[in-house]
Amino acid sequence: MKKRDFLKTSVAAASTVLLPSSLFANVQGDKRLRTAHIGVGGMGAADLNSISSHARVDVTALCDVDANNLAAAKLKHPNAKTFSDYRVMLEAMQNEIDAVIVSTPDHTHAPASILAMDYNKPVYCQKPLAHHVSEVREMRRKAEEKNLVTQMGIQVHSFYDYKLATLLIQSGIIGKVETVRAWSPKNWGYDGPVAKGSDSVPESLDWNLWLGTAAERPFKEKVYHPANWRKLVDFGCGTLGDMGVHIFDTPYNALALDVPTTIKNNCRRPNGFGYPENNNVTYTFKGTKYTTDDFKWVWYDGKGAPSSNKGIKASEQGKTSFTRRHVYWGKGKTFITSFYGDPTAYC
Ligand SMILES: NC(=O)c1ccc[n+]([C@@H]2O[C@H](COP(=O)([O-])OP(=O)(O)OC[C@H]3O[C@@H](n4cnc5c(N)ncnc54)[C@H](O)[C@@H]3O)[C@@H](O)[C@H]2O)c1
Repeated sequence: MKKRDFLKTSVAAASTVLLPSSLFANVQGDKRLRTAHIGVGGMGAADLNSISSHARVDVTALCDVDANNLAAAKLKHPNAKTFSDYRVMLEAMQNEIDAVIVSTPDHTHAPASILAMDYNKPVYCQKPLAHHVSEVREMRRKAEEKNLVTQMGIQVHSFYDYKLATLLIQSGIIGKVETVRAWSPKNWGYDGPVAKGSDSVPESLDWNLWLGTAAERPFKEKVYHPANWRKLVDFGCGTLGDMGVHIFDTPYNALALDVPTTIKNNCRRPNGFGYPENNNVTYTFKGTKYTTDDFKWVWYDGKGAPSSNKGIKASEQGKTSFTRRHVYWGKGKTFITSFYGDPTAYC
């Protein structure tokens, strides 16, 4: 393939969800893969489209607590059985499915994935892997105990930018990295007051099942479902958990980092309800062979973050070189790249 064609292909791939290869690990010869999908609105609909586009996939079961989203998915997959409770689905369908896809809000990732693994099903679970690090550890323990193939939905990991950035760092082309600056202008925080009162639950929504393992509370429009749960500590992971999980992936892995030595967030005080709308976090790490010894990592999000990587000037970054759309590097020690075409960037 010519380089230009390869670049075109990788740009096209950047705008779609990549098929999770792990799901197909055990599908040999002409065997078919029967999938069960938990959460089929929002990203779940994209996952469903992507996975079902494979010629050997049979979408066998669909589950969503919002009857409208379930009905839309069923229209595309009329042979699939539908459920509103994933516990009921897994029990009923355990002998008819080969893999489970979890694309629900973050607080349901671990309960749904762990139960699916209890039924010995390989799981493809959306990022961030879970709502709390203790859940991540339990998910990993379960996958190892059951010897299951699993994958997190973090498509950036397969992109051209990731590979190129890793190559630039690990081959020593840009020298040892001193600073990573990572940011997102998105705001998945909420500095307002705790939601009070209640609104009537939409007829299509099973609010009790949506809450799942979270504490009970009244339904409020536009506060939780859909998507806004990200802003709230009981359900999501804020901007850092939502976007950072993509953006951190490349430099974190390429630099072979381990856990941070210190983390300092310059943000408002926690209020137990919403995540801060503006974060400015500095991490220090033990140096690796790809970093200087005094290496540090800075994250900022919300209004304080640049809205576009176009604002990054050579004068800010030292002698900056440029390659392709989204990968830049400083000939000095700072590395810059951005997140597939949107204004998010890190450096
Ligand atoms: N990889 C990516 O680029 C990417 C992009 C967007 C979202 N995501 C991830 O996908 C997940 C979903 O995000 P979203 O934006 O689609 O949220 P959303 O709120 O828009 O959609 C969630 C869907 O799950 C359903 N749902 C909620 N609780 C459920 C339950 N207990 N059982 C079954 N269905 C349930 C909802 O009704 C809805 O259809 C999140 O973890 C998010 O981080 C990943």
